[in-house]
Amino acid sequence: MDDKNQDHFSEQTNQESGEQNTAPKRKNEMSRRQFLTYTLGGTTGFLAAGLLVPMVRFAVDPMLKKKTGADWVKVVEESKITDSPQSFKFQVHQVDGWYESTPKHEAWISKDKAGNIFALSPTCKHLGCRVEWKEEAHEYQCPCHGARYTLEGKQLKVANFPLDEFDVKIENGFVYVGTLHANKESKKA
Ligand code: FES
Repeated sequence: MDDKNQDHFSEQTNQESGEQNTAPKRKNEMSRRQFLTYTLGGTTGFLAAGLLVPMVRFAVDPMLKKKTGADWVKVVEESKITDSPQSFKFQVHQVDGWYESTPKHEAWISKDKAGNIFALSPTCKHLGCRVEWKEEAHEYQCPCHGARYTLEGKQLKVANFPLDEFDVKIENGFVYVGTLHANKESKKA
């Protein structure tokens, strides 16, 4: 190798070694790969959150809403109610989260001794069979195990509790039935 070439080689070697030495990596400097990873990760997370939040809200929102149902259901003309209980069937529209239904209900409706209209559930308080009003015995009777109840729904035999009672209101000549609750009518009798 002649002197000229030797010089050129030395110059190149110095340049290469100079490049390696003059740019030492700083400890906290972010590499291109890290930058791309963070950027892509952040963008993906942002897009995923944008999709997930409405989906979760869509799924959960109905569950947080209060169960709703018609407060009062028009059942029968007031004039048709007598001292002797009669069975009336009615439907209640209910919304429970995503689930909408219109279950059928039944009430035995009659007048008490003071002439006030009241409505009883036909569900026996023993094991849930359907009770029937027996005019000749002047009481409700359950065909399953022989429970008996008074006109006001008070238990006489087998069952330990009186028949449940619906709220009732009279409006414009019609009987409206509301929510079901523990019997109050039997305490009046
Ligand atoms: S369910 Fe009515 S008596 Fe048993």
